[in-house]
Amino acid sequence: MARFSDAWLSELYAKNDIVDVVSGYTTLSERGGRYWGLCPFHNEKTPSFSVSKDKQLYYCFGCKQGGNVAHFIMKTENVLFGEAIEMLARRAHMEMPHAMEDKDYSEIKKKRQQIAEMNKMAARFYFDTLHTPKGAQALAYLKKRGIEENIIKRFGLGYAPDEWDNVLNRLRQKGFPQSLIKESGLVQVTNNNTYDAFRNRVMFPIINTFGDVIAFGGRVLDDTTPKYLNTKETMLFNKRRNLYGLDLVRKMRSIKSVVIVEGYMDVVSLQAHGVRAVVASLGTALTKEQAMLIKRYAHDVFLAYDGDEAGEIATMKAIDVLSAEGHSVKVIRFDDGMDPDDFIRKNGLGEFAKKVKNAVPAIGYKLDMKKRSFDLQTEDGREGYAIAATKIIAAIESPIIKERYMQRLAKETGYSQNSIQGQIQNKDAPKNTNDNYRYNSIKKSDKDNAEDAFLAYALANVHFVENVIDDISADDFSLKSHGNIFSVLYDGIKRGIQPTYAELLSELEYEEDRNEAARLSDMQVIADDPEAYLKDCISNMRKRKLEKKRQSLMEGLRDASSENKRKLLAEIGEIDKELNHIEGIG
Ligand code: UTP
Ligand code: MN
Repeated sequence: MARFSDAWLSELYAKNDIVDVVSGYTTLSERGGRYWGLCPFHNEKTPSFSVSKDKQLYYCFGCKQGGNVAHFIMKTENVLFGEAIEMLARRAHMEMPHAMEDKDYSEIKKKRQQIAEMNKMAARFYFDTLHTPKGAQALAYLKKRGIEENIIKRFGLGYAPDEWDNVLNRLRQKGFPQSLIKESGLVQVTNNNTYDAFRNRVMFPIINTFGDVIAFGGRVLDDTTPKYLNTKETMLFNKRRNLYGLDLVRKMRSIKSVVIVEGYMDVVSLQAHGVRAVVASLGTALTKEQAMLIKRYAHDVFLAYDGDEAGEIATMKAIDVLSAEGHSVKVIRFDDGMDPDDFIRKNGLGEFAKKVKNAVPAIGYKLDMKKRSFDLQTEDGREGYAIAATKIIAAIESPIIKERYMQRLAKETGYSQNSIQGQIQNKDAPKNTNDNYRYNSIKKSDKDNAEDAFLAYALANVHFVENVIDDISADDFSLKSHGNIFSVLYDGIKRGIQPTYAELLSELEYEEDRNEAARLSDMQVIADDPEAYLKDCISNMRKRKLEKKRQSLMEGLRDASSENKRKLLAEIGEIDKELNHIEGIG
């Protein structure tokens, strides 16, 4: 995350009133001291999107997302935090703080450029070598797999010869410093020996959307392992934040959807057969960052992973990651053992297009997968499946689509649509009643909402927190998000600033933490004696933690040996003492 000085950021926030900025995207009207509008992030007919002018935050009660003005821009414009800040600076006619850019940063920038140059040189060398006698075998291999010259050019494919220092010597001759050569990922260093990292491999340059070669994937020509080697992470290459093939997608016009595959060869082969927008992750499961990147080009995605168990598991994960970023996801399935490359080479573009047309919506796919772990011939199996499936269906927002899947489930299990609906409303439904749109208010802190109460109050009254801040630590929170929010608050206070909501949220790195902080910001907490209130919350949190621990020890007692029993009982005794102590002062 780009870093800006506290002072500069706070001026930026002051000059970009969130109500003004959001009004450019959705119509807001004032009611009950806050602004309401239709949520720009999900479809709705009644406004559940709220903006608080005093806190300078937004929060949607429907999709439970929130943040400050910069996060709003990140989401609506699909940009990264630093880019959102830049847009806001432009809007407010503020200079970006170049002067504050420290020496380290420009140093890193220069190194990045040099690594990009080295990669470009290497890519050219690999490409040229593919077309020399040394590369004849590799060229034949690509041709055998149906890759023709025009595709080789389009992807800049190449061949790294079976030599130890070819690339290394070229880089040295060009005068790149030895230390930087080692950082480029093009060479490997073992016991003080430096040698070419890629040898006797077909080379796939990985190119970012600015056209820089940032890394390589290299494939063996036979069945030896590892099949692919990838450039290690460098100053230029973060495999979580890039996608293979995205550079080509960026150059295309009017893309309606993107196909996501697992392998480099799948991207190359689908393109060769005329599939337009296709990308692959870089040897890891699809990441949130990648899902956000794809959103810049299309919202509709097709997952076309390998037809094997690993592909199915990866598909399930990718569905969740993509859906969380608001993509509409459909799944293309292949016969066992086939990947998209195999399929299109065997059956051609026409058949692939049919697969795309008949792709299964993500929900249907998830239900299919769930169903496989139950035996629907038995009563127990049908019941188990019905209960598991209602959890999946409950997450659907559109009532019409929801009904479609409830009908389907009724048919599959024999339960009435009525009881299926009942099951969903019972406990699985995200609470979407009107009550939720009202303020949540907490008057006194009880054990169950002590964490909520502490943070809600602390966020709204930072100046009171100082006196109790050393009585509590991030570990005291049972929810990870709460611990993270507390840490940021703690850091701010220790740095001597009392961060505003907007500033605090911009320090939170994870979106789920920001959503949670925005939710908490909406709670109204009333306390007569602030310090006593906060202390009360703290002791309730402790109590809850101890009680949980006590409970798990009690469970352990059942199967413990007599010696262990004694130990456990002693521990429980200690916990009881502590609990009594807390009761005493609390
Ligand atoms: P696959 O084995 O499915 O690759 O692995 P592929 O592209 O279909 O390869 P071919 O058709 O056998 O030539 C999927 C992806 O996983 C990563 C690579 O990014 C690969 O494209 N991978 C795989 C590695 O990083 N290392 C490996 O050893 C294998
Ligand atoms: Mn393959």
